[in-house]
Amino acid sequence: MKLLAISDLHVRYTENRAIVEGLRPESDDDWLVVAGDVGETFDDIVWALGTLNERFAKVIWAPGNHELWTPPKDPVQLRGDKRYTHLVRTLRDLGVVTPEDEYPVWPGADGPVVIAPLFVLYDYTFRPEGTYTVEGALDVAHQAGVVATDEYLLHPDPYPSREAWCRARLSYTRSRLDRIDPALPTVLVNHFPLVREPTRVLRYPEFALWCGTEATADWHVRYRAITVVYGHLHIPRTIECDGVPHREVSLGYPREWRGRPVAPAGLVRILPQQ
Ligand SMILES: [Fe+2]
Ligand SMILES: [Fe+2]
Repeated sequence: MKLLAISDLHVRYTENRAIVEGLRPESDDDWLVVAGDVGETFDDIVWALGTLNERFAKVIWAPGNHELWTPPKDPVQLRGDKRYTHLVRTLRDLGVVTPEDEYPVWPGADGPVVIAPLFVLYDYTFRPEGTYTVEGALDVAHQAGVVATDEYLLHPDPYPSREAWCRARLSYTRSRLDRIDPALPTVLVNHFPLVREPTRVLRYPEFALWCGTEATADWHVRYRAITVVYGHLHIPRTIECDGVPHREVSLGYPREWRGRPVAPAGLVRILPQQ
């Protein structure tokens, strides 16, 4: 029995859709973590997670920014929190575990581990050097010509801003994590990195603004993580913070994975660790 992980499936691309169709567990008991950016349209997201849910004993999902877009051509035109809530209800009906559900407990040979899918968004605190406010940081990014599509398609309704939505999600998520039995270790799953470190290698450093929040910098310690799983950057690798592996598990766009020596990356084993 294994806990496997992947993110950034981006099934809008035919090649990526074919990869999802080919994903299989190694045994009937395997669980799969999907750390966001499955797709953009409602139907695509439900198709991909529904397909995977038929094959794996359990599928655990955390939303990416792409799931929260309202693309003009999607028949589902819900925005912001309403879109997220509609996704949660639809996926939950399929049996997929969402950040709004009870956190599943992995029955590992070394003892139980709580698998916690999170949705905390970002709040523009991963700022370019020399900037100290959201406005100042966004000005610098605009001048550099680096502006995430989220600014046009990820609506924060009913919150006044994406950072306000992030603040609400942080407070809700902290209260959920605080209630986990303190005797249990966790695997924290979030689309965005929980620490800023992995964004230091971005080709366009200003893009870090749309990549996380300083508010989660100590969560891997505070919440006893044995592994953190994230995606979003499309830079698959593992870094260690305070002895805790933070694993970026993205597939990414075909133009990205085609260039890798072993393409595509496939599923990453999270548990057992050895
Ligand atoms: Fe992505
Ligand atoms: Fe993303």
